[in-house]
Formats: sequence, C-alpha cells, structure tokens
Amino acid sequence: MHEDIEKVLISEEEIKLKCKELGQQLTEEYKEKFPLAVGVLKGALPFMSDILRNMDCHVEMDFMDVSSYGNETKSSGEVKIVKDLNTKVEGRDLVIIEDIIDSGLTLSYLVDLFKYRKANSIKIVTLLDKPEGRTANIKADLVGFNVPNEFVVGYGLDYAERYRNLPYIGVLKPKIYGGE
Ligand code: PRP
Ligand code: MN
Ligand code: MG
Repeated sequence: MHEDIEKVLISEEEIKLKCKELGQQLTEEYKEKFPLAVGVLKGALPFMSDILRNMDCHVEMDFMDVSSYGNETKSSGEVKIVKDLNTKVEGRDLVIIEDIIDSGLTLSYLVDLFKYRKANSIKIVTLLDKPEGRTANIKADLVGFNVPNEFVVGYGLDYAERYRNLPYIGVLKPKIYGGE
C-alpha cells in the first residue's frame, strides 16, 4: 500500500471482477448497436480501458476532457471543456464512462450538452457513486460501488494530479490534504 493511503476501500481484485460484470451487462445491452463510449478524462481512463476490454461487441471510443476540481478537494461548481469529442454525437447511442459521480455537476453538464447535440440515447456508467455529495439531479444507469463521503483516490482518481496510477481505490491520510 502507498504510504499516503490510510486505507484501501476497494481492492484491485474487486475492481477487476466488477469491470467484468459491468462489461457483460453492456455487451448484452449494446450487441445489436454500435455505441459511442465517451470517456471523461482524466479520471475515467483506467476504468474505461478495463470496461471496454470486457465488452464483446462493436464499440467506438472517444474522449472528452472536462475539469471542475483543479487542485482542490471540492468542486469549483464550474465545468470547463479542456478537450471536446472528435466524433459527431447526433443519432448515436452514447455510453458515458466516469470514475465517480460526486456533486453530479460534471455529468449533468455533459448530459445536457449531448442532448443538445441530439444523441439518440445516453447511458451513464460510473465505477463509483457518492450519493451524499449530490447537488445536481443526476443518476447513473450502471454503478460499480457506492462510496461514503470521503475523499477517495486511485484507479484514475487524483488529489492534485497524484495517485491516479494506484491500482485500487483508497482514502488519503488527512495530513496529505491539510487535515489534522
Ligand atoms: C472528477 C471526477 C469526475 C468528477 C466528479 O473529475 O473524475 O469527473 O470530478 O465530480 P462531480 O460529480 O462533483 O462533478 P475532475 O474534475 O477532478 O477532473 P479529472 O477527472 O481530470 O481529475
Ligand atoms: Mn473526471
Ligand atoms: Mg480530479
């Protein structure tokens, strides 16, 4: 375990099993279609990679880079597009892939944007859901795990751009982000 981590919430093995399960569900749902998987950078990168390799059907991938947290542990409330999709959304069946839904601001912004761009359907898949953090009215269609209202890192999730490379989801020691 990394020395900045207080405890592991979800192990590498648990994540692996969950990705398999979610990938199979998505395969069932989209096997007659050609969905566009939209990965929300940067956090969704490891999850997207694992989910797609468990989807046994045609799927196109593209990425959107949006940011609302900067180097803080709280959302700024303002979603910025750092990189847009290269793919046309009109008429497509979208599967938005996220690492976590907290306030829900990022996803509600993206869902509105893709509706405006006339997607045929939009599904949200998130590895983690933090229901206690929610301020926007948004719900995922597929959720890997619910997490408590703690700042979690690893497997794509960062604190000030660190810890994304950890293979598990963990809770940081409070002293790392300026707690006691
Ligand atoms: C994090 C996370 C989600 C979003 C969730 O991204 O990866 O995309 O915040 O929070 P919300 O539900 O309160 O909007 P962040 O903006 O930190 O960018 P990153 O993925 O590049 O770390
Ligand atoms: Mn993100
Ligand atoms: Mg972040």
